[in-house]
Amino acid sequence: MVSESFKYITATFLLVSFLTYSLVLYFHSPPPLGQSTESTAAGKLLWQKYNCTACHQIYGLGGYLGPDLTNVYSKKGIQHIKAFLKTGSNTMPDYHLSDDEIESICDFLKVIDASGNSDPRLFIKNSNGTIQLIQ
Ligand code: HEC
Repeated sequence: MVSESFKYITATFLLVSFLTYSLVLYFHSPPPLGQSTESTAAGKLLWQKYNCTACHQIYGLGGYLGPDLTNVYSKKGIQHIKAFLKTGSNTMPDYHLSDDEIESICDFLKVIDASGNSDPRLFIKNSNGTIQLIQ
């Protein structure tokens, strides 16, 4: 039979662990976000309007017909993105976007690039359960 004092010690230990862990997570600063502007907001609306997420992922979420676009801005560059948006390809639709719309989508993808990373191999798992990007 378990003694009363053992139950209290266990309950206290669990409570202190829970509060300590909550405090650690609470004071853990989130990754810095990119600067959001009117143009990036317009880019996000275009992303939703044309349902780009049906084929592309951002932060690993979305369709799998096209590649993940979280870090396409830094990996492939703005000219590469513009070329795809301007003409499409065999498998990527051409939306006949205006230059302003293309600019907005590029700005949106720039902010996404600065605020996340889609490659799980670039993360270190911390002992407190959070993850950290390898610099
Ligand atoms: C019907 C599916 C589909 C939709 C919807 C779609 N794409 Fe694509 N996209 C693709 C495919 C497939 C590729 C790869 C094409 C290739 O390599 O020829 C691609 C490639 C790209 C690339 C180049 C990525 C790279 O790593 O080279 C960009 C940028 C892109 N798409 C942006 C967009 C944006 C922005 C939208 C919404 C306006 C969109 N796509 C909507 C299918 C789609």
